[in-house]
Amino acid sequence: MIKYISPTFINNLLDQIDIVYLIKNRVKLKKKGKNFFGICPFHLEKNPSFVVNSTRQLYHCFGCGVHGNIIDFIMNFDNLSFLESIESIANIFNIPIIYAKKSYLSKKIYKNNIYYKLISNLSIFYKKSLFDPLGKEAYKYLLNRGFNLYIIKYFSIGFSPFYWTNKISNNTKNIKILYEKLGILQIDKKNNNYYDIFYNRIIFPIKNIKGLIVGFGGRVLKNQNPKYLNSSENNIFHKSNELYGLFETKKENNIIKKVLVVEGYIDVISLFQFDIKYVVAILGTSITNMHIKKLFSITNKIIYCYDGDKAGIEAQWKSLKISLPFLVNGKQIRFMILPDGEDPDSLIRKEGKILFEKRINNTLSFSKFFFKRLFLKNFFSSCEEKTSLIYKALSFIKLIPDYFFQINLIKKLGEKIGIINLIDIYDSFKYEKKIIINNNFKKTTIRRLLSLLIQNPKLINLVPKLEFFKSSNINGLFFFIKFVNFYKNQNLTTVKILEQYRGTKLKKVLETLLTWNHMIPDNEIENFFINLIKKLKINILEDRQEYLISLERIKGLDYKKKQELWSLNKILIKKKII
Ligand code: UTP
Ligand code: MN
Repeated sequence: MIKYISPTFINNLLDQIDIVYLIKNRVKLKKKGKNFFGICPFHLEKNPSFVVNSTRQLYHCFGCGVHGNIIDFIMNFDNLSFLESIESIANIFNIPIIYAKKSYLSKKIYKNNIYYKLISNLSIFYKKSLFDPLGKEAYKYLLNRGFNLYIIKYFSIGFSPFYWTNKISNNTKNIKILYEKLGILQIDKKNNNYYDIFYNRIIFPIKNIKGLIVGFGGRVLKNQNPKYLNSSENNIFHKSNELYGLFETKKENNIIKKVLVVEGYIDVISLFQFDIKYVVAILGTSITNMHIKKLFSITNKIIYCYDGDKAGIEAQWKSLKISLPFLVNGKQIRFMILPDGEDPDSLIRKEGKILFEKRINNTLSFSKFFFKRLFLKNFFSSCEEKTSLIYKALSFIKLIPDYFFQINLIKKLGEKIGIINLIDIYDSFKYEKKIIINNNFKKTTIRRLLSLLIQNPKLINLVPKLEFFKSSNINGLFFFIKFVNFYKNQNLTTVKILEQYRGTKLKKVLETLLTWNHMIPDNEIENFFINLIKKLKINILEDRQEYLISLERIKGLDYKKKQELWSLNKILIKKKII
């Protein structure tokens, strides 16, 4: 049975449980002003940068950037899923859980649950088959490659023994989903029957960060092409989001000092068997923004450890480029270059754990790898070559958000190329970047209002009924009005608002707005807010006025619209004088 929890219950939980009390039992906290400070449990640090805000019922770490409410805290601290985390909190505080009917949840979530269930059942079947007489050859293959029974079971490795699906299931609805939605079944054109695309392959189930199986990788037993097949993209599986071994890496470590990124499933499994349990693999693609974000949310150090061949080095260089925007202070990437022809699996089997770990501790830093690669030719004679190299290097460096890191890299670049004051030239790039940042998140009236509302939810009662014109050109106005209508007369808190947006794109925006500092003393917030509302009302009318004027120019106004424009002009003149 799949369980759901009612949204009202979640809201009540957020109301009843004090985040300070909950976290205090796990992290030593000290009160300072309105907040509580402690050593962050999610990254290594000496000085406390982990803050728990009891008014807002949220925590935030200024060191590693983690943040959230009680549910997020328990999810991350105890490595639990969303549901488990709620159950665990309710358990601690002895609150009976109210489960919900399915209808509470959107259709999409319900559908996805069917997909998870089907895949999980299929994985159980594959697992069983590996130990069947039918899977004998596959099992022998795994043993021959040096895997032990424990690790085979730990990674739920399986085998797909049947070509025709009627041996897997005869439920036509399920078969249809496996074919249409999940791409695990295909139709054999010869006789129009469904078959399993992973037939006769060793199966590696791919788990998402929560431990739910979202897809499979399948390897042939003999030298055949393609060597690996992966689940195709679907609702619950996106190669660019998932990392093989991420769930296990999180499960095995409380604090993750570093994560090794490798290329293959086999590499992950091999390293885990050799007791190196902080390894993830990309799934036959290059690393993506999403991967890096996920990794940097659990560790401060990513080590790219790809195969020791030309393709491997190229992939490392590509990973460097993709990582640049994520290199904030405290986060680092490193590079482990393997001997030619080796991959992590082959090397650790040859060298053993100790030597391999020595390599992990002797990796190339970002700057070493960066310059080594840039100056491959070693010797740049002409001005043209030097100039284009500077531009190339700067075009990478300017993507790094850590300003001091940029300065150090540019200084080094200058030394290497023979222009000691190269750093001065950099100003133009910096300028360019600033403009981009400002444009990205301008402090518009609507955003300011939303920000104040999220920070002080009681202000919602001060928002009057606002006029909304279909012709409106004001960004976010419709959302703002909807937001206010929805939340008015609810017993609103910051933490409840954010919780409603879990898993949506808006959550990030609202979180950013939550961090804005309006530089207003507490007793003046209300007035400031009321003035902003006044400003917004004028903006709305001005926007309408502008629309009517342009309409008049294009095709003239009918009598009603003329009247409207005329009265608008009058109102606006009056408002502006006051
Ligand atoms: P490799 O070819 O390096 O395989 O592919 P491997 O990990 O060394 O495996 P063994 O040792 O030969 O058994 C690395 C990864 O690239 C993807 C898979 O995700 C694989 O784990 N890949 C490779 C594919 O998706 N398709 C392929 O045909 C080959
Ligand atoms: Mn290999």
